[in-house]
Amino acid sequence: MRTPIRILILATIVMLVGVGSASARISNAPGDEITNGAQLYDRWYALPGISTPDGNNPIWERQATNTRSGADTWRCSECHGWDYKGSEGMYASGSHATGFPNVMKLATSMSNAEIVSHLKGSKDPSHDFSKYLDDTNLEKLARFLKEDLIDDSSSVDPITLKVTAGDAVHGKQLFETTCANCHGEDGKLLVFRTEGVNEYIGSVAKRDPYRFLHRTRFGVAGTEMPIGRELGWKPSDGVDVLAYAQSLPTGTEKEPVANAGAGSKSSPAMGGPQGGILGGMLTGISVLFGMFGMSAFFLFGLVVIGILIVWALRKRN
Ligand code: HEC
Ligand code: HEC
Repeated sequence: MRTPIRILILATIVMLVGVGSASARISNAPGDEITNGAQLYDRWYALPGISTPDGNNPIWERQATNTRSGADTWRCSECHGWDYKGSEGMYASGSHATGFPNVMKLATSMSNAEIVSHLKGSKDPSHDFSKYLDDTNLEKLARFLKEDLIDDSSSVDPITLKVTAGDAVHGKQLFETTCANCHGEDGKLLVFRTEGVNEYIGSVAKRDPYRFLHRTRFGVAGTEMPIGRELGWKPSDGVDVLAYAQSLPTGTEKEPVANAGAGSKSSPAMGGPQGGILGGMLTGISVLFGMFGMSAFFLFGLVVIGILIVWALRKRN
């Protein structure tokens, strides 16, 4: 007789927890493990409560092609790529190339526990993140790697980086309803500083489509940006937004104008700044002369008055 009651209570609890977590998801709670794991993959030390590592990752010295240093060398994304394919993906060449492996492939044959233990350095003591990330965070990373890596290589041309299979019209709708209020209709309202260069949504979409997809789907740690995955977006929704974002201005369109500006600045530079200096000197000289002139005039006036007085006094005599 007691067991049905127990079951009833248990079922109620399960239901309540279920409803609780469902609503947590809808309200974009930071508790979503996979989203969290994806943000850890991006830049784990950007998440609250995690300290930034010192120096270079010890594995970094096994390569010399990627010359970045410091905290970047600790990001999973820097070694394994935004497409998760490491040396077999976009980072096969270019300034980010390291030769480090494809985790999309490796993770499929590993269990969550094996991934966590690898992240604690069980196989390679240098690949140990346990000093910075606790078990909960390592488990989130494992879940992300096991459950939500999306292979977009069939939607993005490997050479031109253009979306080959995406619905830009649908992407425009999504962009205008969810992104434009922060990034602007043309994507230029928010400026990203990437390695010393100003970038916009349009430039990131064209130059680094996989990073664009990862961040559109999973958000950017430390920002209020909406998270596609938690809005219920399908992988194809991300690709559609990317397709549209690739048509947005990159800022380089402005370069001819900027160059013209620089040109018109540099052509008078032959006489311009010199003229400026000369002009300055002339102004200085004329001010000096002016001052001398004024005082000379004043002295002259005094002398004249003196002469007049002397002359008047003499006349009296
Ligand atoms: C400095 C570069 C570097 C960084 C940063 C890095 N990895 Fe790795 N990773 C490697 C290399 C090299 C290997 C292969 C050799 C080894 O296991 O150490 C590897 C292997 C792996 C493997 C496969 C393990 C296996 O048994 O085959 C997984 C999974 C992995 N990394 C996940 C991650 C995650 C998650 C992060 C972020 C917390 C991360 N890596 C950060 C370089 C890096
Ligand atoms: C609440 C404001 C807000 C909204 C809405 C928003 N973003 Fe963002 N987004 C940001 C902020 C803030 C950053 C980080 C800027 C920085 O790093 O300087 C950012 C960064 C990004 C980046 C990373 C750029 C890079 O350099 O890697 C991408 C991609 C991006 N947003 C895409 C989108 C897309 C697509 C949408 C719509 C689905 C969107 N954002 C909606 C605020 C927003």
